[in-house]
Amino acid sequence: MVREKLYNRAQRLSCVLPLNVLGLVLWGIPGVRALNNGLAMTPTMGWLHWERFMCNVDCKEYPDSCVSEQLFMQMADLMVSDGWKDAGYEYLCIDDCWMAATRDSKGKLQADPERFPGGIRRLANYVHSKGLKLGIYADVGNKTCAGYPGSFGYYDIDAKTFADWEVDLLKFDGCYCDSLKHLADGYKYMSLALNRTGRSIVYSCEWPLYAWPLQKPNYTEIQEYCNHWRSFGDVLDSWQSIKAILDWSSSNQGTIVNVAGPGGWNDPDMLVIGNFGLSWDQQVTQMALWAIMAAPLLMSNDLRHINPQARALLQNKDVIAINQDPLGKQGYLLRKEDNFEVWERPLSSLSWAVAVRNVQEIGGPRFHMISLFTLGKAVACNPACFITQLLPVKKELGFFQWSSILKIKVNPTGTILLQINTPN
Ligand code: GAL
Repeated sequence: MVREKLYNRAQRLSCVLPLNVLGLVLWGIPGVRALNNGLAMTPTMGWLHWERFMCNVDCKEYPDSCVSEQLFMQMADLMVSDGWKDAGYEYLCIDDCWMAATRDSKGKLQADPERFPGGIRRLANYVHSKGLKLGIYADVGNKTCAGYPGSFGYYDIDAKTFADWEVDLLKFDGCYCDSLKHLADGYKYMSLALNRTGRSIVYSCEWPLYAWPLQKPNYTEIQEYCNHWRSFGDVLDSWQSIKAILDWSSSNQGTIVNVAGPGGWNDPDMLVIGNFGLSWDQQVTQMALWAIMAAPLLMSNDLRHINPQARALLQNKDVIAINQDPLGKQGYLLRKEDNFEVWERPLSSLSWAVAVRNVQEIGGPRFHMISLFTLGKAVACNPACFITQLLPVKKELGFFQWSSILKIKVNPTGTILLQINTPN
């Protein structure tokens, strides 16, 4: 189903860029390294409206959940009052459906005047007054995925508009563009255009996601132009969706893992913790594996109505510290056996994070035995180590030897997240 969705999406590609114009810009500057913006040195953290609020523009029927200035101001207030900002969630991000149906008389994008009466600049000022940053959304092609004005042919104007509004992040979607070449040219052009504004704007791309149906993306090139990039289909509020993302990520880890690092991250899409579709164990699995994968932590939920357990999970400082580890190396699937997956991630100060996921979806909790010398390329616990369980609850497991065997119990669809420290 997901592959078909991607193919259908690829068919919607229809922007055609005048290559001669691009040639002057992109190839006029020898050896240009477009993106060295010093941003996203650790994975971006924040809140993004799409999965929970989608393209709901009916503020009469849904005054509290339509895509509006009010929604973002309320989320900004809660990000400060409820500890989200203190936990590291910094970027409050608008997704599709914020725009008016047409550009203004000068060809500039404009916010829907009813839903955003103060405009984006005023919303940005409000968000900045809370010590947060504001993200916005646009599209490389002729239209956004929901049919609002696309940036094709307006890259410089739109980049300057976003900078004038003091926006801090741009999520750039890939709908309605006709070919791989034009897709790549558009993403590169917008990267340069944002750079030229002189404002620090995190650049979140969907370039590989739209490239895959046409050919294997050039991740080295993508990493040069984007701060993070989506490669796989949209996350849904369902265990099926989380499993599909994890399976795609592990199946393609040989291609994507080594490209990630400070300034450029693989983005497996939003955290749906605190919504409706995942059990507690499955929410733990998403949080644990997004930490292992060094993924941007962009929640999409309703901070006005989130249960305390989900909030504690999302604000877990030990897990966030793994996600934000300064070494910036993405983790990977080490092995799969007996319906368990063992993932590991090298951390700074010779530590390792290890996630043990019970793939089985029948029966009860099961034991898994791990020979510690098999972890961390045989050095995670060499000659000895101290192991702490971080999820689903924090528990010090104590000191172990290189030759020790760790026995842990994992619930069906759940994950145990460990941190292995070599005593210094
Ligand atoms: C999709 C994108 C989603 C969301 C949506 C908006 O292409 O993957 O994350 O941005 O468009 O229409």
